[in-house]
Amino acid sequence: MSDNASATASTGQSPRPSVDWELLRGEAVAVCARAYVPYSRFPVGVAALTTRGRVLTGCNVENAAYGVVLCAECGLVSSLYGTGESRGDGPVLDHEAERELLVALSCVDGNGTPITPCGRCRQLLFEHASPDMLIEMDGGPPLPLTDLLPHAFGAPNLGAVATAAATLKGDS
Ligand code: THU
Repeated sequence: MSDNASATASTGQSPRPSVDWELLRGEAVAVCARAYVPYSRFPVGVAALTTRGRVLTGCNVENAAYGVVLCAECGLVSSLYGTGESRGDGPVLDHEAERELLVALSCVDGNGTPITPCGRCRQLLFEHASPDMLIEMDGGPPLPLTDLLPHAFGAPNLGAVATAAATLKGDS
């Protein structure tokens, strides 16, 4: 476990759970073995810790129409919303609503070696990440997602344009 592994930091709203990087990587390696990769033969597994202390996982699922591939991170983000205790208040219609967020993530290849999420998945993760979410690196300390995706485009950009903001909030 690295020095950062047991660090407890503030997410700004609630204390971040301690990160057990060995556990996260182990979960990523386990789910990697479930990947559906007949085309690339490059399995990917990902595991992430959430602000509520849950550990979620995902693996890549490919398709004969190559561009339709679901990266491992897609499954992970889907499970963030599709599993766990129901909030009991219906779908999230407001991006400002208090949500469970990702605080630490390990993504591995078929050797169990940490890899960084692809560009599209950095954007995907950004929307569901705590402000200081960490990503495991191969041979170095975990890095904040904001280092991997600086100057990211996000929901606040939509809010800066009146018509886009109206659409975002479901107004006519
Ligand atoms: N892949 C992921 O699942 N996540 C990433 O962040 C990088 C790429 C998958 C997509 C494809 O199934 C395979 O790795 C080869 O690109």
